[in-house]
Amino acid sequence: MCGIFGYIGSRDAVKIAINGLKKLEYRGYDSAGIAGIKDGKIVSAKELGKITALEKEVAKMNLDLHVAISQTRWATHGKPSKINAHPHFDATHQLALVHNGIIENYEALRTSLKDKGVHFVSDTDTEVVAQLIGAHYKGDILKAVFETLPLLKGAYAIALIHQDYPDQIIAISHNAPLVIGIGENEAFISSDTHSFVAHTREVVFLENSEVAVIKADKLEVFNTALEQIEKKSEQLSIEAIESSKGNYEHYTLKEIHDQPQAVRNALSGRFLQEYGTASFDSLNFDVNELLNVKRILILACGTSWHAGYMGAYMLEDKARIPVQAEIASEFRYKNPIVQNDTLVIAISQSGETADTIAAVRELKAKGAKILALCNVEGSTLVREADSTLFLRAGQEIGVCSTKAFTSQVVILSLFTLMMARMRHMSKQDGQEFLKALERLPDQIDSILKNSAHIEAIAKKYAHYENFFYLGRHYMYPASLEGALKLKEIAYINANGYPAGEMKHGPIALINENCPTVALCSNNLTHEKLLSNLMEVKSRNGLVIAIAEEGDKGIEKIADEIIRVPATIDELACIPAVVVTQLLAYFIAKERGADIDQPRNLAKAVTVE
Ligand code: F6R
Repeated sequence: MCGIFGYIGSRDAVKIAINGLKKLEYRGYDSAGIAGIKDGKIVSAKELGKITALEKEVAKMNLDLHVAISQTRWATHGKPSKINAHPHFDATHQLALVHNGIIENYEALRTSLKDKGVHFVSDTDTEVVAQLIGAHYKGDILKAVFETLPLLKGAYAIALIHQDYPDQIIAISHNAPLVIGIGENEAFISSDTHSFVAHTREVVFLENSEVAVIKADKLEVFNTALEQIEKKSEQLSIEAIESSKGNYEHYTLKEIHDQPQAVRNALSGRFLQEYGTASFDSLNFDVNELLNVKRILILACGTSWHAGYMGAYMLEDKARIPVQAEIASEFRYKNPIVQNDTLVIAISQSGETADTIAAVRELKAKGAKILALCNVEGSTLVREADSTLFLRAGQEIGVCSTKAFTSQVVILSLFTLMMARMRHMSKQDGQEFLKALERLPDQIDSILKNSAHIEAIAKKYAHYENFFYLGRHYMYPASLEGALKLKEIAYINANGYPAGEMKHGPIALINENCPTVALCSNNLTHEKLLSNLMEVKSRNGLVIAIAEEGDKGIEKIADEIIRVPATIDELACIPAVVVTQLLAYFIAKERGADIDQPRNLAKAVTVE
């Protein structure tokens, strides 16, 4: 979603900002813009579409800037357009600001400003903030900011420049992430540390409602009472990653192929084969706390929720702990009951998903302990959680989540193993479970080597507009994930369903125009699934089966079979989901979709 990048210092601010924006591209956006101060006046450029369009535009303007704020916009209020792109300005064009988040009461604020004669040029909620600060400005910009902030409702991260203050950027963070990078006589501001980690690793995270005045050689941070507060800087340990697709046509394909290594990374140093159990260095809950857990609540959105759903099945089945996997956006409005012995597991690749973080805050306020599963160091979720298990999947740039999902399931499996071994699971069973985990990277590799077969099937079925994905037990969340991949990157309507539920309504949609992708690798329910697939066949439905090697039963039913290596039921979702990722990828490619940045989607969903 929207990404903010700002720079102040002696270097070429435009070049640094454009490069910074490119590092935020993965978040998803529809337009981009930049503003700076030149000869005491605000100068700016905005373009609809890709950052390269903005880059060409600023090159023509020949700007020589040493302070710049810039942003990639993902439309919420007002359609994607050059006018609605950020930055936005006050009526006198003395200030420019960029914003990430949503101003919930913008309509009322806009009306009252209009009543006072203020003319708006855009449809955005952001322009309301610029106009309000402009209206309060009487020569002291910080004062104008502090008079405006109490009027705003919602979540916002803002970077602002004013022509009377050419040597500073003001940054504001309220329920939306913003981090300041401190260099030598220069400073950066961004929604994501990856965008400037090549320049500096020294960072200051702004917390809720803090306001920072950033100069090249000085940083001041204020609380809501306008009192200056002491902020300690931290050193990032993340690497500056030169993200490259290598020889792959898309990041998404590269990340699908990263999975064997991502699984190895997730497992590395986290299990004890001799004792048949798992252990995590970074888990700072003591044994008694873990033994006292009587209930687990898993919170996440989208693909991370699918991984959580899988984890819930596993934890109940193996560790015999009641588990609820909840969609964070629903859960946060349920007024949850939290008992002392409940452990909350919050799962998020980005660590910035607004709904997940809001649910976590609600639960923290009720006294719950939070364990995060996250891929991004320094992200909001990591800072909120009591303890974090990192995915170690490497940066995921394709907007649709692939390798993060696999790593999430692997870590949930290790966590399940640890909790189960502390309770009822035998050492031998634990060791078998670990062996199955260790086999996974090679098993994924063998699926990737079978890509040509999957691509051929994808080409044959790419013209269908409706699909079902069916599975039972562990294959049910896997079918949800498979269907989501097809929806988001190929723009095809796909329903993930528990196969046993089909006859309760959805089967009415089955005909020769609606193929079914059947996820067959669950031994416990295999026979039942075959019966459900017969029901599909009897209604002229086509069946593309993802079936384990040696599964003979499916041969009489399926129109196409994609084989996956056999594993235990608890882990079978991983090979199956890798196939669905490739299927969605090749179908999307055949249809000419924008695979790495699908329309309307954002990588970090930082608004409700
Ligand atoms: C789907 C996808 C999204 C995310 C969801 C949560 O491919 O990427 O559904 O899984 O937006 O994101 P995180 O995991 O960053 O909280």
